[in-house]
Amino acid sequence: MNLTLKIWRQKNANAQGKMVDYQISNVSPDMSFLEMLDVLNTELIEKGEEPVSFDHDCREGICGSCSLYINGEAHGPDRLITTCQLHMRKFKDGDTIYIEPWRAKAFPVIKDLIVDRSAFDRIQHAGGFISVNTSGNTQDANAIPIEKANADAAFDAATCIGCGACVASCKNSSAMLFVSAKVSQFALLPQGQIEATDRVMNMVNQMDAEGFGNCTNTGACEVECPKGISLENIARMNREYLKASFKG
Ligand code: SF4
Ligand code: FES
Repeated sequence: MNLTLKIWRQKNANAQGKMVDYQISNVSPDMSFLEMLDVLNTELIEKGEEPVSFDHDCREGICGSCSLYINGEAHGPDRLITTCQLHMRKFKDGDTIYIEPWRAKAFPVIKDLIVDRSAFDRIQHAGGFISVNTSGNTQDANAIPIEKANADAAFDAATCIGCGACVASCKNSSAMLFVSAKVSQFALLPQGQIEATDRVMNMVNQMDAEGFGNCTNTGACEVECPKGISLENIARMNREYLKASFKG
């Protein structure tokens, strides 16, 4: 396949960025999207040009670092996959592909396609943990009975990989889907009850302090989420927040 790539280039956080055109040829339909970018970067380096900076790590849909906006969709045209799992067979010979970083005030661009998602880390630090006795007397998890439906829902919430596609696809740049997944994975389990009140208050307050927008129930986040995190988690987080406010 021969393709035209229109890629966001930005030298650093303070520089002004712009879309730059690149032609790439002999792209195999079996290449992953990131492998295609690797080929482009090899060509740029051979020509003495600056390669395109983009985030990646696991390349198997686990780490959440490959955050690209492709043809106006977070993680590209496929559903329930990350950018690293997207293959070039989804595109046609002669296509023009627009590749941009996540766009959100709370995710400032560091360089080219890489954004700073440390706001998510700070939200996690504010409450995304449980206290566990690690003195050698840790209770076997299997000794704590948990209703199957709750265990399944908690597991589903825990599959959030913190990629930020929910924020990037939301017109309000809301982080509610991410934060609600992190709250839900503990709210549904007995192990999460001890810090439940502080957790939801602190995580929501941190989310607001980071400059994420509010949720207006558009649902774009759920559609673009590579892990299928459900909007039900946002409803659960709102209930947890209300409960905590009364206690508070
Ligand atoms: S909720 Fe989905 S889109 Fe948002 S950070 Fe988690 S995995 Fe990514
Ligand atoms: S590189 Fe890890 S999820 Fe894509």
